[in-house]
Amino acid sequence: MDARIVLLGAPGSGKGTQAKRLCEEFDLTLISTGDLLRQAVRDNTPLGAEAKRYMDAGKLVPDELVIGLIKEKVEGLEGGFLLDGFPRNLEQARMLDGITNVDMAVELDVDEEMIVDRIVKRRSCRQCGEVYHLAARPPKTADVCDQCGGELYQRTDDSEETVRERLKVYHERTQPLVDFYKERGILIKVDGRGGIDEVYHRIADAIRGFAK
Ligand code: AP5
Repeated sequence: MDARIVLLGAPGSGKGTQAKRLCEEFDLTLISTGDLLRQAVRDNTPLGAEAKRYMDAGKLVPDELVIGLIKEKVEGLEGGFLLDGFPRNLEQARMLDGITNVDMAVELDVDEEMIVDRIVKRRSCRQCGEVYHLAARPPKTADVCDQCGGELYQRTDDSEETVRERLKVYHERTQPLVDFYKERGILIKVDGRGGIDEVYHRIADAIRGFAK
C-alpha cells in the first residue's frame, strides 16, 4: 500500500505492538521516533545523551532533535510509511506537512487504567527492541526474548511517576492533533481495548475501508 499513515495514541495504547504488524501486512516502512531515540541512547550518541534526560523525565524531546531524525528518514523515501510517535505536537505536525503529505491518522483509543496495566507489565528486549506483556504476550522463557535470545528489561520511563507525566504531556501536547487531523477528514478512530489480535484486525479493517 502506498499510504502515509500517522499512528496516534497515549503511551501504552499499543502503537508499537500494532505498528510492526501493520507495516508487515501493508508493506509500509515503519518509522518510530521512540525506537530511534532509544537506539541513540544505547549507541551513546550526543543526541542520545541529550534525549535521555527528557525521556527519563517523561517530557517530549525538543523538536529540533526529533525533526532532524524524521527528515533523515522520510525525505526521499519510496512507497508508503507509518509513523509511530510522530508528530507529537502541532509544531511537529506542521513540519511534517512541509516535507510530505499525510493520508490517514489512526487514533488508538484506550482507557487510562488499561494503559497503566499495559505499561507496568511491559518488557522490552535490550537487543532487538521486541515488546512483550507479562500477561497478554509473555515470552516463552522468563526475561528472555523469543526472537533473539536477548535480555528483557523494563524501560526506564515506565515507572508509575513517569507514566503519569507522559500521560499529562500526551493530553496537553499530542491530543490536539486528533482535532488537527479530524478537521482534514483523515482521522480514523479505533477502539484499542481488547486483545492484541482483536485490536489489530480492527485497525487493519479500518485502514482498508478508508483506502477504498
Ligand atoms: P515512545 O516510545 O513513542 O512512547 P509512547 O508514545 O509513550 O508509547 P509507548 O512506547 O509507551 O507505548 P505504545 O503505544 O507503543 O504501546 P506498546 O505497543 O509498547 O516515546 C518514548 C519517549 O521518547 C517520549 O516520552 C519522549 O520523551 C520521546 N519521544 C518519542 N517521540 C517523540 C517526538 N516525536 N517528539 C518528542 N519526543 C519524543 O504496548 C504497551 C504494552 O501493552 C506492551 O507490553 C504490549 O505488549 C501491551 N499491549 C499492547 N496492546 C495490547 C492489547 N491489545 N492487550 C493487552 N496488552 C497489550
